Amino acid sequence: MNSFLSNKWLKVPVFLLCMVPAALLVWGITHNGYIQSIDRGPSTFVDLGADPIAYITHSTGDWTIRFLIITLAITPFRKLLSLPALIRYRRMLGLFAFFYGSAHFTTYIWLYQSFDFQAIWADVAKRRFITVGFLGFVLMIPLAITSTKGWIRRMGGKNWTWLHRAIYVSAIAGVIHYAWLVKSDERKPLQYAAMVGVLLLYRIVVWIIGARKPPSIRAARPAPVTSETA
Ligand code: HEM
Repeated sequence: MNSFLSNKWLKVPVFLLCMVPAALLVWGITHNGYIQSIDRGPSTFVDLGADPIAYITHSTGDWTIRFLIITLAITPFRKLLSLPALIRYRRMLGLFAFFYGSAHFTTYIWLYQSFDFQAIWADVAKRRFITVGFLGFVLMIPLAITSTKGWIRRMGGKNWTWLHRAIYVSAIAGVIHYAWLVKSDERKPLQYAAMVGVLLLYRIVVWIIGARKPPSIRAARPAPVTSETA
């Protein structure tokens, strides 16, 4: 399995798979009658329903949190399943979280607020679910920018690893954002909260176990941080 995951060509189908939700959305937008003609009707493969803007917002928001969770799950899975090659996909998956987050944010500033930045700022300050979502998204920006090998080298492995722990804050902010915006059915935000909680707990347990080891063992094999291993 590990050698299968190490195949350099496997990144291509993984990339294409990650694009599927975006492709379905674009298909839905262009065929649902929303952009082309209002009266074509919802007879298509992806039906955006009566409120296409809400559909786009919900779909991009859902995929942002899903990709954040998948990215966070890479480290536990590679360790628990002894699949170190999984790390090759983490950067791509994290960048997809940012991609869907950007699409989500763009939907908001474009289709909800028509680029009225005064209104956007007022909304960020006023509605707490928007404030916390905004925080989650803003935190993803430095992570996306510094995701390259060059930035790891410039920042040094330790600083880079510290900065990239902000992905947990982003995921927690995303979950709170969702929990605060739902009006009745809280099942989905609770499911996401449980997943982020388990992943965070795993990290805390690993950290506690590591901190308890004698300093000689801890210092024995400092792992070099690269974009493939970080
Ligand atoms: C880490 C960043 C973010 C994540 C993970 C996230 C995630 C989500 C999720 C999961 C939903 C609900 C989807 C559903 O109902 O199935 C949602 C809805 C929404 N989000 Fe975000 N979001 C983020 C950032 C933002 C930002 C920055 C804004 C705007 C400033 C925003 C505005 C909205 C709006 C307006 C809705 C729809 C609310 C409604 O249904 O009334 N989100 N988001």
